[in-house]
Amino acid sequence: AIEIDKLRGATGAVTLDPGFKNTGACKSEITFLDGEKGILRYRGYTIEDLAEKSSFLEVSYLLIFGELPAAAVLEKFENDIKKYTLVNEEMKNIIDGFPKTAHPMGVLASLTSALTAFNPQPVDVNDEEELYDTVCKTMAKFLVIATWTYRKKMGYPLNYYDNTKGHVENFLRLMFELPTGPYKIDPVIVNALDKLFILHADHEQNCSASTVRIVGSSHAGLFASISAGVSALWGPLHGGANQAVLEMLEEIQANGGDADKYLAKAKDKEDPFRLMGFGHRVYKNFDPRAKIIKKAADDVLEALGVNDPILNIAKKLEEAALKDEYFKSRNLYPNVDFYSGIIYRAMGIPTEMFTVLFAIGRLPGWIAQWKEMRLNKEPIGRPRQIYTGSPLRDFVPVDKR
Ligand code: ACO
Repeated sequence: AIEIDKLRGATGAVTLDPGFKNTGACKSEITFLDGEKGILRYRGYTIEDLAEKSSFLEVSYLLIFGELPAAAVLEKFENDIKKYTLVNEEMKNIIDGFPKTAHPMGVLASLTSALTAFNPQPVDVNDEEELYDTVCKTMAKFLVIATWTYRKKMGYPLNYYDNTKGHVENFLRLMFELPTGPYKIDPVIVNALDKLFILHADHEQNCSASTVRIVGSSHAGLFASISAGVSALWGPLHGGANQAVLEMLEEIQANGGDADKYLAKAKDKEDPFRLMGFGHRVYKNFDPRAKIIKKAADDVLEALGVNDPILNIAKKLEEAALKDEYFKSRNLYPNVDFYSGIIYRAMGIPTEMFTVLFAIGRLPGWIAQWKEMRLNKEPIGRPRQIYTGSPLRDFVPVDKR
């Protein structure tokens, strides 16, 4: 065995942990998560307190800079973000190049990466002022380009940030306001969205945050690292689950609302189908964000006067799964995205934009993780492997193969 290992180039002991199920990649002061007890805290504050009492930009500041901002600091942060909300006009040429059928997450990843071209100077992470400006710039421009992915899809003219309005209100305007007249902003929707963004803002070393850290560890720029995070989030096993949940619920509805049939499909090991919005790598009891969102879904639908039969299907599915031995024995519970799509739908947000909304919410988490990684001077991320390919072989010329 030693001889074979030598031939294969292995040096020393290598731990093999596919999916990093039990491997810590860093020390972090940002988010605390206890999957057994269903606890989630940002910088020591419970997610329940933050969702109820805070605002998205306040939480963004907390995650990125470590402390809840005093009133004047928060006001300055909000105003400083507004300084950067104009996106380079040439970015529009890039948007024009995409087909209307393109998925908004693909467009968002490309546009985020393109921001590097218009902001080529690397950030000096040790220069506090420069770092702060870069954070404000990223928060501002990402929101605008995220909404532009939708405008492009709909064929609407691109919209501009209104500095007299708040960040979340601007998201709604940027998405929905048309040249025919002002968009009426509903405070119920603003509050619910603000809460949803807070609940999505960070989740320690998840797939997209780890991606941002590992790309950033090569000292690639912040926009390039965030763009990689967007791509990681897009997949249906991660952020793309919110779109997949709604599509699944719609399919169940279209097929007569038989939740049990889909439960049986999800349990069938011959069938690749999984119950979307169920299960989580670290929450093995319940996802505290799902509890808050389930309640918010009820409240928002009631306040907006929406009676969505999809909500009843979701509740039926959840009840059946919670009683089912397969789901109980594997600790599979609804995750954050099981109910978020129902709220987005009630707000008039199209299904393909759901994961973009997740990305807007997750942005401060990605920035915080990137900043921490760089300030901690973490080494380049470079996992090892166990080589299982061929031993040494003689090269055979093409005419002899
Ligand atoms: N439906 C049916 N069975 C499931 C599901 C599901 N949603 N999730 C896990 N299982 C089963 C697996 O088949 C496996 O069964 P086995 O032990 O008999 O082989 C067991 O539960 C453990 O599953 P793993 O895939 O090993 O768990 P892992 O931690 O790797 O995956 C994940 C977690 C990706 C979230 C998984 O539960 C899943 O695919 N869920 C559906 C997609 C989803 O909702 N993703 C969003 C996650 S939250 C977020 O990113 C915001």
